[in-house]
Amino acid sequence: MFVSFEGCEGVGKSTQLRLIKEYLERTNQPALFVREPGSTAISEQIRTVILDPANTEMCGLTEALLYAASRAQLVSQTLRPALDRGELVICDRYIDSSVAYQGYARGLGADFVRDINAAATQGLLPDVTVFIDLPPSAAWRNGHLQDRLEQESAEFHENVYNGYISEISRCPQRFVRIKPEFDKNETSRKIIEALRERGAIK
Ligand code: TYD
Repeated sequence: MFVSFEGCEGVGKSTQLRLIKEYLERTNQPALFVREPGSTAISEQIRTVILDPANTEMCGLTEALLYAASRAQLVSQTLRPALDRGELVICDRYIDSSVAYQGYARGLGADFVRDINAAATQGLLPDVTVFIDLPPSAAWRNGHLQDRLEQESAEFHENVYNGYISEISRCPQRFVRIKPEFDKNETSRKIIEALRERGAIK
């Protein structure tokens, strides 16, 4: 089973990934956790180039191709072999991030971004995608150094959110849409329940 997590900046995705990891450890369910861009030596090097705030001249097409290149390496080196061994794989962001950020917000077009990623991943899509459904807020910007993507305007991040919503309506069966609760443990329980219903975890 291949599960991805998606969402806008600062919606608590990392916390939810940590909580599901703890749940799987507690219940003795082995899983491979990866993050994008990154998680192989080559993909981490590509990540550094993509997110470096100094790379102000990077054009949108380069950005989209670098995310796809990082993903191609992760799929061939790690994801495909793990899935072939029957492992549970949980990925922090995947193709939907590229479609939302580069396709919609950057304006390269959702179809184009889906196409280059289909080539990069040989068509590998998640079985289930958990979308943490919260529009971007201004609050997350406070108090931390921002990478190149985080520095984008509020409008860019609004477009990311709207891009996700369009993708969800395009293939509603793949997505689990989770509205975060005030209590992060309650949100985690909702995610676990949804993944159990889909047969992704026990
Ligand atoms: P990261 O620090 O991992 O962010 P987060 O904790 O929000 O997941 O940085 C990844 C950044 O790259 C994030 O701003 C989203 C962006 N991104 C894309 O624009 N396209 C992509 O395909 C992926 C995987 C990420």
